[in-house]
Amino acid sequence: MALNLCPSRLQLLPVSPEKTLVGNLRKSLPSLTPSQNLTGRRNPQLRRFGNGGRAPIGRAVKEEQTQIDGAVETGAVEIDLPSSKLVLVVGGTGGVGQLIVASLLRRNIKSHLLLRDPAKAKSLFGDLDENISKIWKGDTRYPHDLDPAIFEGVTHAICCTGTTAFPSRRWHGENTPEKVDWEGVRNLVSALPKTLKRFVLVSSVGVTKCDELPWSLMNLFGVLKFKKMAEDIVHKSGIPFTIIRAGRLTDGPYTSYDLNTLLQATAGKRRAVVIGQGDKLVGEASRLVVAEACIQTLDIDFTRGKIYEINSVEGEGPGNDPEKWKELFKAAES
Ligand SMILES: NC(=O)c1ccc[n+]([C@@H]2O[C@H](COP(=O)([O-])OP(=O)(O)OC[C@H]3O[C@@H](n4cnc5c(N)ncnc54)[C@H](OP(=O)(O)O)[C@@H]3O)[C@@H](O)[C@H]2O)c1
Repeated sequence: MALNLCPSRLQLLPVSPEKTLVGNLRKSLPSLTPSQNLTGRRNPQLRRFGNGGRAPIGRAVKEEQTQIDGAVETGAVEIDLPSSKLVLVVGGTGGVGQLIVASLLRRNIKSHLLLRDPAKAKSLFGDLDENISKIWKGDTRYPHDLDPAIFEGVTHAICCTGTTAFPSRRWHGENTPEKVDWEGVRNLVSALPKTLKRFVLVSSVGVTKCDELPWSLMNLFGVLKFKKMAEDIVHKSGIPFTIIRAGRLTDGPYTSYDLNTLLQATAGKRRAVVIGQGDKLVGEASRLVVAEACIQTLDIDFTRGKIYEINSVEGEGPGNDPEKWKELFKAAES
């Protein structure tokens, strides 16, 4: 449920403001002062980190909350009440994944993060409160890593794992498209609880045309073929799914920026969203837009069992407004 933080609306709330994200983070942030709203002035505490400052996202989320606190006074933002969801994020240390994790934290949505390198997660997200976000170490290539405990209570899952399309250091130890994009997703699908309400898989445009130029070039080492095989197994699994086929990903994060820097960098000018169906879209998509699409689709019933492709272009976009996202997904189907 979206909460408009206009002060007058706040007084009508059925829950105490202390139970909201703002309330929770206020309690945890006694020393941070609201020195900025979301209208563009920069928070000096954020500036301190800069691009090279490596501020962990977990901390940066709190820093961003300082902005939200400032915005409460101006009625400038919407945030969500605590959610009953428990979202499993697989690939949360990646470009899109980091943004998804940060966004879930900001929305006060609980998560389980299945990832290979907890130290990397710590450097990105800081010390996470286990009651909100719990880290599980695991590699999707190995079924025995997918301990049932990871999936306990999980209501929704988002998978944004991937590796490079062409041989690179990231293929080290056979972490190839075949192993990650196909076998890893297959293993994950087998391990997901049957009670899952939604599984969102980030895939790629071009998967249905991997024999045609220019896709055949991208597919030289099979990445599109293996992503399509993963899509197919998700489709057949019986699990309620949504597949988001991203255009060529642009913008950060390429490394662990603080979230404020990261949002400014990624939101950039490419905020307008184009959603299509039928693997017809060709273009680019901001990672922030893809991350937001994954989160939004969890709550849009009619996206269940559907495949969409997504691009983003210069212009104003839906931000995190659920109604605008619904319209975009609906329009893609017409
Ligand atoms: N790049 C593009 O232009 C493009 C276009 C369309 C679609 N896509 C797809 O969009 C998705 C997100 O892209 P991105 O750029 O955000 O990806 P990314 O930065 O490459 O992140 C990939 C994530 O997958 C994780 N991962 C890799 N192998 C794994 C394994 N065996 N077990 C568990 N986790 C594993 C990585 O973990 P580590 O941190 O441990 O490595 C990382 O968190 C990917 O599926 C990608 O293929 C990309």
